[in-house]
Amino acid sequence: MNLENVKKINKLGIELLGFSTVSNESWYASSALRVVQLSLFMFFPIPASLPVASPRRSKNKKGEPCTLLVNHRRLQTCKVSKKLAVLGATGQTGQCVVQQALQHGHVVVAIVRNPQKMKISHSNLKVVKVNIFSSEELVSHLEGQDAIISCLGFSISFLSPVTGYLDSMKAIVDTMQKVGVTRLVTMTSWYTNGEASPQCPWTIRWVLLPMIKSVLLNMQEMEHFLTNDCGDINYTIVRPPGLVNGSCTDKEFRTTLNAFSVTLPDNCDIGLSGFHVSRADVARFMLNVLSTDKWDKKAVAIALI
Ligand SMILES: NC(=O)c1ccc[n+]([C@@H]2O[C@H](COP(=O)([O-])OP(=O)(O)OC[C@H]3O[C@@H](n4cnc5c(N)ncnc54)[C@H](OP(=O)(O)O)[C@@H]3O)[C@@H](O)[C@H]2O)c1
Repeated sequence: MNLENVKKINKLGIELLGFSTVSNESWYASSALRVVQLSLFMFFPIPASLPVASPRRSKNKKGEPCTLLVNHRRLQTCKVSKKLAVLGATGQTGQCVVQQALQHGHVVVAIVRNPQKMKISHSNLKVVKVNIFSSEELVSHLEGQDAIISCLGFSISFLSPVTGYLDSMKAIVDTMQKVGVTRLVTMTSWYTNGEASPQCPWTIRWVLLPMIKSVLLNMQEMEHFLTNDCGDINYTIVRPPGLVNGSCTDKEFRTTLNAFSVTLPDNCDIGLSGFHVSRADVARFMLNVLSTDKWDKKAVAIALI
């Protein structure tokens, strides 16, 4: 089996579970996979009425407060225009970040490997082709930025382990240290510790997580690097659940600090809906963390339920 076929099978398995990595979701329509996916939703139905998030703070089993509901309508995106460098800017989440950053009046440098893929054009957007693993190439583009946002993603392969997350982050941090930029927002995923939460559906626990183990492992290595070896970097690691393409909402986020998934309310039958968030909403969250010091040097798992 050649490499292309292996990649196709990887993508197929991930999409089957709603962890889509491609934007062309109309592909589902003509596919038998849609049937399987619908069956999954029958097993894990989305309730007609989602639980009302009345308490502002919930408690974990030990009774310690841990999960916060964050209303970004109140938080407000920073009013001051910032200079931002976005890595992975041609990716699905990256494009949402670029779009929203420009809408908020920020000045954006999109760091990409293929400038033709960038569909957004704007007077405040500069698109540069850069090798993300080379500090020498990154240096002139990270210099003078207020913050760096990374939406980079690296595919799984059965042939070799994923290394892109840690390797690119080492180059990014090295460059930030050289040019004196300290603020970094990056995204990884729920379950980077490799453990499914007790509420996790069996499809995610027994099928998806083993399949993407190499990605999660390298994300975890990157997270350890940031938390243990980068004392001078003010990072925020945003951990979303499965990503889907959808519109940007103004819904409240449920967030759990330094956790590998979001603690859902007790006796909450949310089906699969709590395990998905739109890329546009993740972008909203990533930009909003720049307007507060609440998530400075923190990893935060997010959900929209
Ligand atoms: N899929 C899910 O359900 C899910 C859930 C939680 C977290 N995540 C994680 O969230 C992140 C963003 O997801 P996404 O769906 O927005 O990703 P995506 O659309 O696949 O975008 C990934 C980005 O990384 C860039 N990239 C990959 N390898 C590169 C390289 N060698 N050099 C330069 N750029 C490179 C891609 O560039 P090109 O555009 O040139 O390809 C693209 O811009 C990923 O890390 C993903 O693993 C995904």
